[in-house]
Amino acid sequence: MKSTSAESSSKMNTLMLNAINKDEIKTAAAILADGGLVAMPTETVYGLGANALNAESVENIFKAKGRPQDNPLIVHIADKNDFAKYGYPNEIAKKLAEAFWPGPLTIIVDKNPCIPDVTSGGLPTVGIRMPAHPVALELIREAGVPVAAPSANTSGKPSPTEAIHVWDDMNGKIEAVLDGGSCDIGVESTVVDTTNSVAVILRPGAITIDMMAEVLGEEGVQRVSKTAIRKDEAPKSPGMKYRHYAPKAQVNMICGSPVDTYNYIKECVTEKDGVLVFSEFIDEFTCEKIDFGMSYDKDMQAHVLFSAFRELDKKNVEKIYVQCPREYGKALATVNRLRKSAEGSIVDLRTRRIVGVVGRSGSGKSYISRKLSENGRLIDCDKLYAEMLKTDCEMTRDLAKNFPECYIDGKIVKSELSKAVFNNREKLEKLNKLTHSHIVKEIMRIIDADPLVDFWLDAPTLFESGLHLYCTKLVAVVADEDTCIARIMKRDGITEEQAKKRLANQMPADFFKKYCDQVIYN
Ligand code: TXA
Ligand code: MG
Repeated sequence: MKSTSAESSSKMNTLMLNAINKDEIKTAAAILADGGLVAMPTETVYGLGANALNAESVENIFKAKGRPQDNPLIVHIADKNDFAKYGYPNEIAKKLAEAFWPGPLTIIVDKNPCIPDVTSGGLPTVGIRMPAHPVALELIREAGVPVAAPSANTSGKPSPTEAIHVWDDMNGKIEAVLDGGSCDIGVESTVVDTTNSVAVILRPGAITIDMMAEVLGEEGVQRVSKTAIRKDEAPKSPGMKYRHYAPKAQVNMICGSPVDTYNYIKECVTEKDGVLVFSEFIDEFTCEKIDFGMSYDKDMQAHVLFSAFRELDKKNVEKIYVQCPREYGKALATVNRLRKSAEGSIVDLRTRRIVGVVGRSGSGKSYISRKLSENGRLIDCDKLYAEMLKTDCEMTRDLAKNFPECYIDGKIVKSELSKAVFNNREKLEKLNKLTHSHIVKEIMRIIDADPLVDFWLDAPTLFESGLHLYCTKLVAVVADEDTCIARIMKRDGITEEQAKKRLANQMPADFFKKYCDQVIYN
């Protein structure tokens, strides 16, 4: 079978195969081995695959996608041992493959001559990846050839994360689409160049610089310098110079704290537009809208981005407003794609830093907060709460109304509050809701009074109170359980059991590690 569709004007009959059926994977593999094009699921995005060793087949990928010929393809393998068959991996490359394969990391190495020039875009190097998707691995093994595959979208459009997206772009242009469900990660792999003495990240993805630094050391890996992708120079990664990931509608990327970006979008948006906004704000919009996941859920944001663009395009919205995730860790990949799709339509509302510091009791959060805030101002939220309880403010008046039994001699008695909510979930929730809203309001009053100063918020209930929505960065302070217990016992003079009980009532360290922008081990 020869793929001739791209040359002839007649449309090809594209098969929709389902990976649930092993026979259909075999059919797809036979098409690949025979020189045809098959779109396959991977854990990042769908790839448009061809036998990487067959120059004619690979050429058809460029035709089907409308992709510039100088943009090299990634060669997908199903066995780590094949790395050295198609490239010349050095020590850096081998270490990275060992640590992150199968997975969302494309490793650029010097190319073996068996890889045709068309596959590597004429470069002396080749990008190789072993994907972590059972269907992709089975397909590659079954086909018995390495599979060259760019993302399976029409060049310039958002990458496909579901088989139907591929179908929309490629129906009639390729032999088959192998449906393996929705892609888990949602943005393309990290691309890392290992042909120099230091690994250089050319495209951010789910494997972050910090993860690679754990394997190669802090000095062993760096981000590509911006100057390497200037239009007038030969770019390091040819793919980075083209317009990318763009839906039909103009994308407007709004950067800042979630509350600030929400307020901005709410002002600008019309009923003809679409929005991609965090879960915390989704109910506030009446136009076409897509839930971007919680403001701190970087995995969900990556997963949603491209499919959201395609969905909003189907609704024919005029403009798309996007709340930009905080640009740290895994979100670097999402923001990188978002920035390219926005093509300069970027609004940055950040004028200073508001950093939320969170951690469990005994993690040393207060100590770290003091250190970090040396050049700005620190608000100790627990202390602020204690002070507010002692004054005749809106919060105490509200508390007196709702918890009259705790209002004694014209004052709220903290111990009485604890008693009132003890073992009473409903009352505890009511108390938290009430105090959190007042504390957040007071903190914002303090912050707004000093508009040019950076703030650090030592906030044990950063997430519960909603204070995280006002922050431009979230820092987690983490210590191991035994250290926390020992510190609490010493500081508060309580027993081990009491300390353990207190920790059991707090959010787990894993939550903070997953959802904060930076983790400080203390
Ligand atoms: O997750 C992914 O990487 C997906 C799935 C299908 O594996 N593939 C993908 O391929 O995103 P593509 O072609 O859309 O992006 C490949 C990127 C391009 O920016 C390309 O320029 C760069 O990798 N690249 C490939 N080989 C290279 C090389 N030898 N030197 C520099 N950059 C290279
Ligand atoms: Mg692509």
